[in-house]
Amino acid sequence: MDIRIFDSHEALDKAASEVMVELARSKERPVFGLATGGTPVGIYQALIQVFSEERLSLKHALAFNLDEYVGLPPSHSQSYAYYMLQHLFGHVDMPPDQRHIPDGMARDPHQECLRYDQLLAEAGRIDLQLLGLGHNGHIGFNEPGRGLERGTHVVSLQEETREANARFFSEMEEVPKQAITMGMGTILQARMILLVVKGKDKADVLSSALTGPITTELPASLLQTHPHLLVMADREAGAQLF
Ligand code: F6R
Repeated sequence: MDIRIFDSHEALDKAASEVMVELARSKERPVFGLATGGTPVGIYQALIQVFSEERLSLKHALAFNLDEYVGLPPSHSQSYAYYMLQHLFGHVDMPPDQRHIPDGMARDPHQECLRYDQLLAEAGRIDLQLLGLGHNGHIGFNEPGRGLERGTHVVSLQEETREANARFFSEMEEVPKQAITMGMGTILQARMILLVVKGKDKADVLSSALTGPITTELPASLLQTHPHLLVMADREAGAQLF
């Protein structure tokens, strides 16, 4: 496990984007696993900056997002499809048919999970999986519990997660109760995992995830088993690590 601590978000975002740029340059057909939420916004901005300077092309890259809310269409401002268009896809040259996000509007969400796993299988392993960290230790929307699932599945969001995400909706009732998420097995199969954590409110959970027991009650703790885990944290989030 490689842990890097940064004094500023700017430096962290730049360093994380460089890892992605490096992969995009070194592989003919790189496969990215992408995350949404507040954490990666600056990383995507840094990537767009490199793209605008003509130092990066994602024309041959594939992307698979971790998750999507059930019941939100891509046109909804809080859907992850909308987020990705706003924060990354709308600004780079990755063709639409190479960008994948679970379809939250699928008539049969369970069938959608099978379709997503099929697409992932066809793409081969994810080269680089970008992850944020939930306050309760979730990864994607793999919530703490007695067990974790290997493949893409439908989850009921925990109240804590809904409350954390309520800031993006006008009222709590609007926060979806279910999501489709890539499974822990798929995430752990990625060749490399880049876990990015920001803010003092994540210091406890980050420390437990990286140094505590490995348990499904803290899904991020499973990342300890990954042979190529790179953690990038700001000083506040990393405060309890050393
Ligand atoms: C988002 C995702 C979530 C977030 C996590 C942290 O696609 O899968 O696991 O990474 O909830 O969210 P932020 O970055 O908003 O603190």
